[in-house]
Amino acid sequence: MARSRPASSRWTLLLAFVVLVACLVAPGVSVKHENFKKCSQSGFCKRNRAFADEATTQASSWSSPYELDASTIRFENGQLEGVVIKTVSSNEKVRLPLTISFLESGVARVVVDEEKRTKGEIELRHDSQARKQRYNEAGQWALVGGLDLSQSALLSSEAEPGFTKITYGPDNKFQAIIHHAPFNVEFQRDGETHVQLNKKGYLNVEHWRPKVDLPEGEESVEDQSTWWEETFGGNTDSKPKGPESVGLDISFPGYSHVFGIPEHADSLSLKETRGGSGNHEEPYRMYNSDVFEYELNSPMTLYGAIPFMQAHRKDSTVGVFWLNAAETWVDIVKTKSSSNPLSLGVGSKTSTQTHWFSEAGQLDIFVFLGPTPREMSKTYGELTGYTQLPQQFAIAYHQCRWNYVTDEDVKEVDRKFDKYQIPYDVIWLDIEYTDGKKYFSWDPLTFPDPKGMEEQLDESERKLVVIIDPHIKNTNDNPVDQELQSKELGVKKKDNTLYEGWCWPGSSHWVDCFNPAAIKWWVNLFKYDNFKGTLPNVFIWNDMNEPSVFNGPETTMPKDNMHYGNWEHRDVHNVNGLTLVNATFNALVERKKGELQRPFILTRSFFAGAQRVSAMWTGDNQATWEHLAISLPMVLTNGVAGFPFAGADVGGFFNNPSKELLTRWYQTGIWYPFLRAHAHIDTRRREPYLVGDPYMGIISQALRLRYQLLPAWYTAFHEASVNGMPIVRPQYYVHPNDENGFAIDDQLYLGSTGLLTKPVVQEGATSVEIYLADDEKYYDYFDYTIYQGAGKKHTVPAPLEKVPVLMQGGHIIPRRDRPRRSSGLMKWDPYTLVIVLDKNGEADGSLYVDDGETFDFERGGYIFRRFRFGENTLTSEDIGTTGPKTAGYLKTMAGVHVEKIVVVNAPSTWHDRTSVTVMEDGAKSATTASLQYFAQPAGKAAYAIVKNPDVAIGKAWKIDF
Ligand code: GLC
Repeated sequence: MARSRPASSRWTLLLAFVVLVACLVAPGVSVKHENFKKCSQSGFCKRNRAFADEATTQASSWSSPYELDASTIRFENGQLEGVVIKTVSSNEKVRLPLTISFLESGVARVVVDEEKRTKGEIELRHDSQARKQRYNEAGQWALVGGLDLSQSALLSSEAEPGFTKITYGPDNKFQAIIHHAPFNVEFQRDGETHVQLNKKGYLNVEHWRPKVDLPEGEESVEDQSTWWEETFGGNTDSKPKGPESVGLDISFPGYSHVFGIPEHADSLSLKETRGGSGNHEEPYRMYNSDVFEYELNSPMTLYGAIPFMQAHRKDSTVGVFWLNAAETWVDIVKTKSSSNPLSLGVGSKTSTQTHWFSEAGQLDIFVFLGPTPREMSKTYGELTGYTQLPQQFAIAYHQCRWNYVTDEDVKEVDRKFDKYQIPYDVIWLDIEYTDGKKYFSWDPLTFPDPKGMEEQLDESERKLVVIIDPHIKNTNDNPVDQELQSKELGVKKKDNTLYEGWCWPGSSHWVDCFNPAAIKWWVNLFKYDNFKGTLPNVFIWNDMNEPSVFNGPETTMPKDNMHYGNWEHRDVHNVNGLTLVNATFNALVERKKGELQRPFILTRSFFAGAQRVSAMWTGDNQATWEHLAISLPMVLTNGVAGFPFAGADVGGFFNNPSKELLTRWYQTGIWYPFLRAHAHIDTRRREPYLVGDPYMGIISQALRLRYQLLPAWYTAFHEASVNGMPIVRPQYYVHPNDENGFAIDDQLYLGSTGLLTKPVVQEGATSVEIYLADDEKYYDYFDYTIYQGAGKKHTVPAPLEKVPVLMQGGHIIPRRDRPRRSSGLMKWDPYTLVIVLDKNGEADGSLYVDDGETFDFERGGYIFRRFRFGENTLTSEDIGTTGPKTAGYLKTMAGVHVEKIVVVNAPSTWHDRTSVTVMEDGAKSATTASLQYFAQPAGKAAYAIVKNPDVAIGKAWKIDF
């Protein structure tokens, strides 16, 4: 693997220098395509695409060979069961059990399996020990709820022969129309079809068959060259179960945009993939991989996969979740149809057809009928879980690089941040802190006193994150490896002996976190007594968990490796990364009995459900403007796919950013839910205090803006943790009816705050064009310049020192304005409320606060307020539910007050007003606080400031203006 390693001699240093200079003059590094499969190099991808081509080209004569046998249909308690028959030839028919579950939430789940494999009536080749079934445990990792069957779903009696109809969903407004022959399903809402399965006849379940060795010289009709073995890049995959892919077309009639299915370095609105101008040639691939120097605007796979897609059009959002952990590809094609051929495009409708196929496993699809993006996030989250509410520090600024080289180095960086008054919360240690890449150890020479270092950090409530990867160094002097071997907790080869491969430590073994015994063991390794040198302010970074194997096929494990339960790696590959994070999460919960703090884990690889246990970042990007720009759609897409705690390496991982790029990256990064600067070992140091004037000051200001808005961020995280709403939201989430905004992915809203930003991602830019969808007034965050006008772009000045951010009228934004060294030190700070009045002089907002650390919030230990301004009165009202911890928490927060209220767009009638009347719940009488009115020149909104209203943040109160 072409990764640079620490230079150890002068010669290697010199060589590194030469390479560096070469990089500076060379046009830009890019991915090695030959290391990763194209569709044409993947047997099942090629077969499924060819099958689709056949169906399309023969459309008029094509009939899908799948039929639901009407005599097998049973419907009971919200679930339909039956058998789909695949006709292979007149005398060969394959039985495929079908289950359609109608869930209480309004989601429908369609599962198709293969009878022969379920019953184990197949023969494995090569003496394989693999399970004979199709993998059916992805749900054990991805799903946590939402599976209750609907009690009101009804088998409709109106169905004609050849159809089965089920009404279900809220008020039974949804309908599934199941066509028996060929088998296909239409999902309707209010009588209109929104999602169709197998409309185009691409359904393909590759059934088991024995390998027939033909006599010499004879060739089979079908191309079997990739059925029984497949070779790529010198590695041969043995395929003991033969071909077993599943494929299906999913159409969204009338929908012109589809979103989701991370992780790709591409636009938010997904592109077509069957060629043509501006389109991709390759399908979007999901096969978690460590892609060195990944390229942009590409459907190539990256480190994580969430096979969840939303389709959106004016007034409606629907979607599908393809629950399959094997390698998966998705083709997207859009077609235009017009009811009137002479209308020249007027009234023409775009529809999107998608084609999904996975190498193995069951066909298992969830269909969502929306109808709003909000509803999509909520119901998807009911199934796969919501974002873990992180600790407060986790949403502040993280300082990382590969590597801080000694414990003294860490302490020095920590002191420098204070010296230059730049806030930060967490400092990170990459792989070099370990003793020779043996995780759970410290290099005795460079990190002789980890606890001393952690104690210094703790003095300002700061944290340390250390990296722990899943590859365990294979040496006799590594007790962790000795245990892994003796307890048989590693991933195995196809012959059931321990698998060995190469990663950072050289020869390594991989912990198999599918194995409950391995999880238990892993949990134990993190106990303070075992991972010596760690204190409670130490948290974990799980990297390389795709898994990355430097000498493996496509930089990962062979597909015929074996995991716990005798599942082949091919079956489980995409969920592998999540199993590691899951084990680490359990470990952090149990580090010590009685210590109840929320875990923090960063993961590179992920699958649906990873949002419950981790944050993610977009891996090894580069210090270029293009990489900065693509980080926005990537982060937004993750939010749409239910994993919003996302960010990209600020500054770019590879190479050295210019000072301007670094500055703009910080100004962009403060809008990532996960905000971390990181850099490759070969890059120059770039801590913000090193960049000199004016950059250092500008970066500090950007970070201060993040810290000032932490109350708003935390409230947005809370929202994500209860209903799955993205923390930063794309245009179509906030303005779902504004078609011009659907594809916009370079500006974003922060939670429900009405804060709209469009970060500068272009060199030399001094302004940005912000698109406004609605007719509400928007105000510049800093000087209240007014922007108004729906459906068009507005030029907002953005010289280097300026972060372009607007406030939409109608919101109340909570802030904390006192500059501190870390978020932990802001715990008892007073609040500022910014009231941004709308056209009617009204505004609305909320604030969620808790201890930012423990699980007490689960038992009512939090403050949740709704603020409303109307008819010249501001009120604070409780919207939380009480629990055993409520009273205690309110008591600790009794002294935390509102110190300032800013009213933007204050009415001119206030110009001679000097005070407001304050009435706090429980107070004997009203008090007053001073009000100052500030007129502004035309084009800027007048504002008013109330100083020290002295109301408690946890209490009900009312202020009359
Ligand atoms: C991987 C990670 C990167 C890290 C490096 C060394 O490349 O993506 O962030 O610095 O490994 O651990």
